[in-house]
Amino acid sequence: MSSASIHTAASSEEEAMILDVVRKLVAEKVAPRAAAIDESGEFPWDIQKVFAENDLLGIPFPAEYGGVGGSFLTYVKVVEEVAKACASSSLIIAVQELGALPIIIAGSHEQKQRFIPKLASGEWTGAYALTEAGSGSDAAGSMRTRAEKRGDTYILNGTKIWITQGSVADIICVFAVTDPSKGPNGISAFVVEKGFPGFKVGKLEKKMGIRGSPTVELIFENCEVPAKNMLGEEGTGFKTAMKVLDKSRPGIAAQAVGIAQGALDYATTYAQERIAFGKPIGQQQGIQFMLADMKLDVESARLLLYEAARKCDGSSADLTLWAALAKLKAGDTAMSVTTDAVQILGGFGYSVEYPVERMMRDAKITQIYEGTQQIQRLVIARTMVGKWKPPANGAPRT
Ligand code: CAA
Repeated sequence: MSSASIHTAASSEEEAMILDVVRKLVAEKVAPRAAAIDESGEFPWDIQKVFAENDLLGIPFPAEYGGVGGSFLTYVKVVEEVAKACASSSLIIAVQELGALPIIIAGSHEQKQRFIPKLASGEWTGAYALTEAGSGSDAAGSMRTRAEKRGDTYILNGTKIWITQGSVADIICVFAVTDPSKGPNGISAFVVEKGFPGFKVGKLEKKMGIRGSPTVELIFENCEVPAKNMLGEEGTGFKTAMKVLDKSRPGIAAQAVGIAQGALDYATTYAQERIAFGKPIGQQQGIQFMLADMKLDVESARLLLYEAARKCDGSSADLTLWAALAKLKAGDTAMSVTTDAVQILGGFGYSVEYPVERMMRDAKITQIYEGTQQIQRLVIARTMVGKWKPPANGAPRT
């Protein structure tokens, strides 16, 4: 795909053109590699290169900073297409977005100029580091990584875990406590560049799924980060982290919808071909009911996903709600549909020679990362009933 053609992507015609190219790339380059990527557990640089060459790493990044300037809707559809064949490969696109969003949302013009074009082109890989050993769901309350200002430098100390693409990233948006007395409003965001003194990559996780996507520990030992790499004002980092998740959760929902659709497609074809009791199993009511329920869930999740993506495009006030609804429904759908796909294939479904067992393993993480399904429910309910705050000391309980 030429840069000239994709760099003006905005209309539905252009979206159709992009998706056409992506489907071809997936069929020719990604799908044939999916099983080997899972088996080796290594980051597929060849696939990253294909995505970079075809301008797929910066679809919704602003055109003025080297992005395509496309819509979030186009972006989630691209992630979905890739995830139908290979969940690990789809994360290359989704995490590039996740790593760039703190800069796009909270960065200055100078910071955007410095970082976004290289992320958009794929010359650099990005990552996002919020989670710590004691701070997963309770991202603000339990954060321990500290950043202390010394002159024009912040000194970071602490360890982040479960950082997707952390070992292959050139830049990582890291969240750290600058003022422990201020709770969530004492957290700040920084861009840590590979090679900064005091920064190193720790343990590589061995995982059930998304095995081609490296998940690592990041260690900061008196890591020196220039103050010019702080995103936004001191103390605004947690809000930036949350605004990022509002826009990145649809990317994970897209991955989940793609995994589910990939498994459903495979199970449907299998059900049309596999004969039992004298006819294709797809003609048996027991299997038909399963296929129909799988279809219902996938289409429902997709509708929520596309609506959430439209909310991202419009920066709607209720984006937080829709991102959580989409991620919750899509993650649960990915898990149930892939599990049923394995069931439809029976013993074959349990074999590594068929892709549905990989899809089932890959699906599980979509119920865990970017906020567990329980956190999505908490976020959804808070948009309905608010967050309860204990009465101030001495205030009467009513
Ligand atoms: N947008 C803007 N501001 C927001 C916000 C949002 N969506 N959500 C919260 N805030 C603000 C609040 O208004 C509040 O501000 P004030 O103090 O000024 O009132 C402040 O942030 C603190 O918010 P809460 O009081 O709601 O904080 P909390 O501690 O009660 O709960 C939470 C927040 C929703 C539970 C949050 O911690 C959360 O989302 N946890 C899950 C973390 C998560 O998703 N981690 C994923 C890691 S990334 C990953 O997984 C990527 C990968 O590997 C691919």
